[in-house]
Amino acid sequence: MAGGVILSTSSKKLHEGKMTSFVLLACIMASSGGLIFGYDIGISGGVTSMDSFLEKFFPSVYAQQQADSSASQYCKFDSELLTLFTSSLYVAALLSSFAASRVTRVSGRKLSMLIGGMTFLAGSAINGAAVNVFMLILGRVLLGIGIGFANQSVPVYLSEMAPAKMRGTLNIGFQLMITVGIFAANLINYGTASIKGGWGWRVSLGLAAVPAIIMSVGALVLPDTPNSLLERGFAEEAKKMLQKIRGTDDIQEEYDDLIAASEEAKTVKSPWSNILQNKYRPQLIMAILIPFFQQLTGINVIMFYAPVLFKTIGFGGEASLASAVITGIVNVFATFVSIATVDRLGRRALFLQGGAQMLISQVVVGTLIGLKFGTSGEATELSKGYASIIVLFICVYVAAFAWSWGPLGWLVPSEIFPLEIRSAGQSITVSVNMFFTFIIAQVFLLALCHMKFGLFYFFGGWVVIMTAFIYFFLPETKNVPIEEIILVWKQHWFWGKFIADEDIHVGEHAFKNTSA
Ligand code: BGC
Repeated sequence: MAGGVILSTSSKKLHEGKMTSFVLLACIMASSGGLIFGYDIGISGGVTSMDSFLEKFFPSVYAQQQADSSASQYCKFDSELLTLFTSSLYVAALLSSFAASRVTRVSGRKLSMLIGGMTFLAGSAINGAAVNVFMLILGRVLLGIGIGFANQSVPVYLSEMAPAKMRGTLNIGFQLMITVGIFAANLINYGTASIKGGWGWRVSLGLAAVPAIIMSVGALVLPDTPNSLLERGFAEEAKKMLQKIRGTDDIQEEYDDLIAASEEAKTVKSPWSNILQNKYRPQLIMAILIPFFQQLTGINVIMFYAPVLFKTIGFGGEASLASAVITGIVNVFATFVSIATVDRLGRRALFLQGGAQMLISQVVVGTLIGLKFGTSGEATELSKGYASIIVLFICVYVAAFAWSWGPLGWLVPSEIFPLEIRSAGQSITVSVNMFFTFIIAQVFLLALCHMKFGLFYFFGGWVVIMTAFIYFFLPETKNVPIEEIILVWKQHWFWGKFIADEDIHVGEHAFKNTSA
C-alpha cells in the first residue's frame, strides 16, 4: 500500500547522514517557535474561567454564569462571546500564514520566525496591560499573526535542516515545544488563579512574552537552511551551509538534488497557481486533509476546555485545574515516544496505532459519561473512583494523540512538498489547521450542550475515517531525503498516476523505483 523505495549504495551514505551538534542546536532553537503556539493554547481556557477576568471584560457572561442554575451538566458553560474572544486569534493566524508564505519563500525561513516572535511579543504586552476589550482583542490578533508566521516557517525549517534519517525526530521538537508551552501555561494558570487581587490573568497573559523573547532571540542567531539559500540564489553559501550542517565535505549528491529542486523552483512564477496543477494533487490534498483530520480528533476540546470539561463531569474548580495539569504532563511525555520511534517505525505505524488507541479511549469516555449523565445531563456527584477512570482514559487518549496526529500533523505536511511550492503548501496546512481549531473552539460548548456524551462518539467516528485514509493513501516518507520525496508519490498505487515521468528531476542517481 505504501509503495517501496530502494536506496542504492551511493545514497545510503546520504540516508545515514549523521546529525551534527550544529544542526541539533539550530533545531532546538527553532523548535522554540512551538512554545508560543502551545503557551497560547494552554493559557486561554484558564484565563477565561477566572472570575476577575470575566467580571472586568465580560460582565454579562459573568452575571449569567453566577445566575445559572440550569440542571443540565452539559449546558453550563455556553457563551458565544467568550469563545469569540478565544477564537479571534485563530482567524488572525489563518490569514497571516499567507503573508508568511511569501516572506518565507522570498526572504527566508529565519525572517518569518523573527517576525513571528516580535509580533507575538507585542501581543503579549498589550494583553497583559489590557484595560478594555479592544486591547484584549488587538493583543490576540497580534498573537495570532505571530503564530501564523511561526507555524508557517518553523516546521519547514526543521525538515530542511535535518538529515533525512533524523528528520522526524528533529521536526517533532516543534510539537514537543507546543506541549511544553501548553503545560507551562496550565501550571501558570493554576498559580495565578489563586492571586487574591484579581490581577492573576494579567500575569498569565503577560508571561506570553517569555516564549516570544526566546523565539525572537533564537531566530536572530539561527542559520538559514541550504534549501532556502539556494531558492534565493545564494549557491555558494548554500553549499557551505550544507557542508557545515552535515559535518562533511561529501555532500555532492544531496547538493545536486537541492540544485535540481531550486532550478525547478525558478520556473515557477506563482506557487499559488502552480499548486493547483495535477502533478501536485497528492501533496495538496494532504496539506488540506492532514490538518483537518488533526483537529477532528477532538484534541482541542481537551486542550482548551479541560477545566470546563472536568467541571462539567463533576470535579470542583481546583480539581478540574489539577486534572488539566495531569493531561498536560501526559501530553509532554508521550511526545517522546514519537521522537524516539518516528524515523524507525515510520509515520504510518504511529498514525495507525495512535488512531486505534484514540478511538478506544473516546468510546470508553463517551460511554462512561453517558452512563452517568444520560441524555438529560442531570447527575449526582461522580464518585472519586468513577471520575478517576474517566481522567485515566482521557490521558490514554491524549497520549495517543501526542505520539501520532499531534507531531505528525506538522511533520508530514512540512516534508511532502517539493521546494517550489513548499512555502505555499505549508500556509495551506497552517490555515486549514487554524480554521478548524477556530470552528472547534467556537462550537464545542454548543455541541456539548446538544450532542452531550455523543460528542465523544462523533470525534471517534472521524478517527475511524482518518485512520482508514492514512492506511490507503499516505505513503511512508521516513528516511527519504526531502527533495526526493516526489519519488515516493510517484510509486504510490493511487497518487502515482498524477505524476508524469518528466515531472521528476531529482534523485535519478540515487533511487531505483519499485512498485509495491
Ligand atoms: C495541534 C494543536 C493541539 C496540540 C496539542 C498540536 O499539534 O495543532 O491544535 O492543541 O497539538 O498538543
